[in-house]
Formats: sequence, structure tokens, C-alpha cells
Amino acid sequence: MRPSMFRSLQSAVARSSSAHIARRGYSADSVPERKVAVLGAAGGIGQSLSLLMKLNPLVSKLALYDIAGTPGVAADVSHINTRSEVAGYMGDDQLAKALEGSDVVIIPAGVPRKPGMTRDDLFNINAGIVKSLCSAIAKYCPNALVTMISNPVNSTVPIAAEVFKKAGVYDEKRLFGVTTLDVVRAKTFYAGKANVNVAEVNVPVVGGHAGITILPLFSQATPKANLSDEDIRALTKRTQDGGTEVVEAKAGKGSATLSMAYAGAIFADACLKGLNGVPDVVECSYVQSNITELPFFASKVRIGKNGVEEVFGLGPLSEYEKEGLEALKPELRSSIEKGIQFANQS
Ligand code: NAD
Ligand code: LMR
Repeated sequence: MRPSMFRSLQSAVARSSSAHIARRGYSADSVPERKVAVLGAAGGIGQSLSLLMKLNPLVSKLALYDIAGTPGVAADVSHINTRSEVAGYMGDDQLAKALEGSDVVIIPAGVPRKPGMTRDDLFNINAGIVKSLCSAIAKYCPNALVTMISNPVNSTVPIAAEVFKKAGVYDEKRLFGVTTLDVVRAKTFYAGKANVNVAEVNVPVVGGHAGITILPLFSQATPKANLSDEDIRALTKRTQDGGTEVVEAKAGKGSATLSMAYAGAIFADACLKGLNGVPDVVECSYVQSNITELPFFASKVRIGKNGVEEVFGLGPLSEYEKEGLEALKPELRSSIEKGIQFANQS
């Protein structure tokens, strides 16, 4: 990345946070202390995400944890002249220290897909990783907001919920599946097709985070555009297959890392703003929900001082979206049940 591009990225991140700092009436010196832990920090997502969190002025402590490689990543990131103090932690016996005092825990730990695999094919490895990390979170920072990136998100979030329930610390307001990348993709693809400024685009994406369970609501997209049914179908399919598009393009070298780090950083920033009391922080996320008959569902949520403060309903849907909603329910239900069963059996 050219230095000038990097500076504008850094100042864009800083600007969005400084604006809210000013609105809240505190100076940069009195921004609350916030510790963020990244679990899986030496991975493809983890490294870029750690960089982006180091650029976020709302973070005062950044704990980078992985089973290997974190000393190097932490030393590297720690030289960046921004607010947060960085520490690297490696291996099980340093996990407690990494987690203690965390306000937000971001989990991109686990294996990514290769071409030909579904996200559910990652279940056998990633379910165990998520379960053990969440057991540690329950013990060392039970009040943190937990943002789950590890796939299959449709199952890993229910696993986390069960682990927290068993430990007696479950608070549904504090557990989030990160579906921001679906929103990021929907915005980008819509802006391209509708020929509108991507910076002004909003598209809710609901359901879950795998194939047809990803349901972008282009009927609610703004700015409005007169797209044909065929265009909407193509945009929907491309958003649902966005992850596979990257997996195939990377040809065996993993899945989305850079766009995911960007999306994860946006979502973590929203959590920090919510915790700091910024009003009207709204993002789509996969959370415990009663807006459908499914116990977990992604929709717009308002994030505040205690985590999820409001889960928004779906709003008016087109006939095509209504069909998509009914079609996704069996798969999403079965992924949720698979996660719950795993957490309770193992
Ligand atoms: P990666 O293999 O590059 O990195 C994963 C990291 O996790 C590695 O550094 C590994 O050492 C670490 N790890 C493994 N077990 C661990 C443990 N017990 N504790 C801590 N760290 C551990 O993979 P990646 O490309 O960064 O992807 C990570 C995960 O994110 C995958 O499951 C992938 O499918 C998922 N993902 C989700 C989204 C989303 O939208 N939610 C998007 C992209 C990728
Ligand atoms: C994505 O949407 O890019 C991620 O879920 C990774 C994947 O396996 O597609």
C-alpha cells in the first residue's frame, strides 16, 4: 500500500471515531479506556484486523492472541504510533492474560475454506476451537461483547451461546455473529449495478451467513434505483456467493481476509461506539432473535452500552425476498441445531 493511501485509511478510521468523540462531548484525552482482544490474530484475517484495530482511537489496549506467530505480529503492529498499547499472547497458558479486562473480543480463529468446500465443512475443526475459546471467555471476561467471525457462523454463534449458558454467564445481548461482510458486498455490488455513489449506499442483509441463508434486502436499498427483477436476482446470487467467489479466486490459498478484516473492524468499531454510549449505532448482525421462529437470525440491531439494545424487524419484503426468507429457514435451523447439539454433547 502506498504511504499516502495508508495515511488516508488511517485518517478515515480516526475521523469517523473523532467525529463521534466530539459529538459525545469528550476530548480525545478522555476517551474511555477500552481493551480489545483478537483471537486468531496471526491469521489471514487476524493480522489485517489487528492492524485496523491499532488504527482505531477508541482502543486503548489491544491483545493479540493465537496458538502461534503472535510475538511477531504484536511487535510489528506495536510500532504504529497510535493510541493503543499492544501485547501479543501465544498458546493456551497465555489466553487468560489476553482476555482479562477485555471489553470486546473478536474471534477470527479457525480454518478457512478451500475450493469445493461449504462453510459447514469447516464445522468439525472450528466448532472445537470456538468452544474452547468461548469457555475461556466465560471464565476470564464474561462481560465482554463477543464478535464471532469463525465459520460456520450459523453454527458457531449457537455453540458460543451454549458454552456461555453452561458457564452461567450467557447474556444474549453480548454475542454477535459478524455478517458485516455480506453487507459490505451487497453495498458494493448494488452501487456498481445501480451506478450510485457506493459511500451513500445502504442495504440490509438478513438471515445467516452461508449461501441461501444470506438474504440481502435490495427492495430496501438506498439510494433507490430502478433495477429489473433480473438484476435483483443476479445481485442477490452474487452476494450469497461472494465468499465462494473469493475462495475460488484464491485457488486453495484460503478465503476472504482483507475485506473481512475491513468488515470486522467496522463491526468492532460499532461495538466500541455502542459501549461508549454513542446513540443510534445500527449494524446488521446474527444474534439471538425472535423476529422469526428461528432462535438466531441476522437483522439490523441497535448496539448500546449493554450490547444489543434492539433487534429490528425485517420491514416490508418483496415477493422474491419473502420466498428467499422461507427457503433459508430449514438450512439455518439445521445449522443452529447442529451447533447446539455439538456444544451439549461434547
Ligand atoms: P487463517 O488460517 O489464515 O487464520 C486462522 C488463525 O486461527 C491462524 O493463525 C491459526 O493459528 C488460528 N487458530 C487456530 N486455532 C486457534 C485457537 N485455538 N486459538 C487461537 N487461534 C487459533 O484463516 P482466516 O482466513 O483468517 O479465516 C479464519 C476464519 O474466519 C475461518 O473460519 C473463515 O472461514 C472465517 N471467515 C469468516 C468470515 C465472515 O464473514 N464471518 C469471512 C471470512 C472468513
Ligand atoms: C466469506 O463470506 O467470505 C467467508 O464466510 C469465508 C468463506 O468461506 O466464504
